[in-house]
Amino acid sequence: MAVGECCYFRIKLLLLLILFLHRSSFLLAHSSTSLQTPQRETIEIGVGTGSGIGGGGGGGGGGGGGRDPQPSDFPNPKQYYAYIVIQRFKKTITCDPNNVTGTWVGNLPCTYQGFYCEAPPDSPNTPTIASVDFNGFHLCAPTIAGFIDQLPDLALFHANSNNFTGTIPDLTPLQYFYELDVSNNNMSGSFPGNVLPLANLTFLDLRFNLFAGTVPSSIFNIALDVLFLNNNNFNQPLPANLGYTTVAYLTLANNGFTGPIPKSISKAGSTLLEVLFLNNRLSGCLPYEIGLLSEATVFDAGFNQITGPIPLSFGCLQKVEQLNLAGNFLYGNVPDVVCRLAKTGQLANLSLSGNYFTWIGHSCWELVKSGVLDVRQNCIPGFPEQRHPAECWWFFAQPKHYCPFLHFIPCECPVPPATPRTPEAMQRQAEAPHPYTAYKALHRRDGN
Ligand SMILES: *[C@@H]1O[C@H](CO)[C@@H](O)[C@H](O)[C@H]1NC(C)=O
Ligand SMILES: *[C@@H]1O[C@H](CO)[C@@H](O)[C@H](O)[C@H]1NC(C)=O
Ligand SMILES: *[C@@H]1O[C@H](CO)[C@@H](O)[C@H](O)[C@H]1NC(C)=O
Ligand SMILES: *[C@@H]1O[C@H](CO)[C@@H](O)[C@H](O)[C@H]1NC(C)=O
Ligand SMILES: *[C@@H]1O[C@H](CO)[C@@H](O)[C@H](O)[C@H]1NC(C)=O
Repeated sequence: MAVGECCYFRIKLLLLLILFLHRSSFLLAHSSTSLQTPQRETIEIGVGTGSGIGGGGGGGGGGGGGRDPQPSDFPNPKQYYAYIVIQRFKKTITCDPNNVTGTWVGNLPCTYQGFYCEAPPDSPNTPTIASVDFNGFHLCAPTIAGFIDQLPDLALFHANSNNFTGTIPDLTPLQYFYELDVSNNNMSGSFPGNVLPLANLTFLDLRFNLFAGTVPSSIFNIALDVLFLNNNNFNQPLPANLGYTTVAYLTLANNGFTGPIPKSISKAGSTLLEVLFLNNRLSGCLPYEIGLLSEATVFDAGFNQITGPIPLSFGCLQKVEQLNLAGNFLYGNVPDVVCRLAKTGQLANLSLSGNYFTWIGHSCWELVKSGVLDVRQNCIPGFPEQRHPAECWWFFAQPKHYCPFLHFIPCECPVPPATPRTPEAMQRQAEAPHPYTAYKALHRRDGN
């Protein structure tokens, strides 16, 4: 059956699609959809095709004037049951500025706005609700418990920019479930532990809510592709197993995470593409293992309390385009191998402002001149826009947290080409204002 394919056959192709769209999104920079999270669009397009099929199955008349619709009025019993669940949820909705629920009437729930049907693999002739997409609907409801957990064939729930409160219900009976997006709502309480047993979950987006407390370390053992936790109130030392994550995109920005970046991060070397530690309360040294993130295009640990030098291993970040360490307590020399990545790698933006660096070498000088490197508000003698000498003196008079400094570089550093080529990344930046998936997650809305 063609019907079930896009939603149920959860394929690692999803990741390829993400990558493809991620790469190609800059080509569409000026289209009106440029703010949308591209990988979600992919899904929605695929799922949308299925809805026509579900709707086409309905032949059961108008449902009648006064009487309640009967099971026989529906295309199949699954849709009748979904109808009951949806009508019950509809009664709990306290605001609906776009009158979306005005379409939630009659015996064809596959045609309701926000609902998409497909035939589940175990029931190929029975299309039913496989996907719920409420992105941007601005609905208010005290809870989604009793709703999504009662749609047994649901695979995706996307609810960006609604006003749902409460907690995430137990979704373990939903055998096909794999994408949960409740970003930009008002959900609260501790991390929704109910998602942890969802062995098939690949996409978890909890950003812009009121979740607080600790993130269970087991979240880094689930085979997720995407984990967005930014803009909540999580506060705890980063779990030591963080690097065991399989995600390509990880955003922990704008929370209260503490402690050092775990050394296990090197375990994510072949999968992690973009990571945002931005604006937490991380401390300690930058572990040498960060330099082993050989696929990373974005590494952002700006605005934390990280100290010590930049390990020379950062010179191995061959694919890094955006490297942000601004607003920390870093000091020492800026390693020239890192600045050489603008020529030998893809580095397009190196932010080191607001630290306590005291020296930069030749390659870094060139990057300052070309606007790639920002070293304002450091302690570099003779450089413009540096900290006041008294501030530098005060910092260096403080006792220092010991950070090991390895002179070994764990890769072969390529020789810079004689004629510098224009890095691909700079072209990308010139063509698209926000080409990065992780940075897009720092905006509340998906754009639709
Ligand atoms: C919402 O939509 C329904 C169906 O289209 C319509 O009957 C109803 O009057 C609308 N309500 C408001 C408040 O616009
Ligand atoms: C969101 O819901 C809360 C509580 O139900 C309510 O006080 C608030 O006004 C709602 N906000 C919006 C923008 O609808
Ligand atoms: C969350 O609730 C607050 C106050 O109740 C409201 O101002 C805010 O708009 C709500 N957020 C969303 C995303 O609806
Ligand atoms: C994961 O999905 C497969 C089918 O794709 C299903 O057989 C299995 O039961 C699911 N596992 C869980 C824990 O949901
Ligand atoms: C470079 O990175 C910094 C820190 O992330 C950011 O504020 C700035 O906008 C970036 N510059 C460009 C040109 O992308």
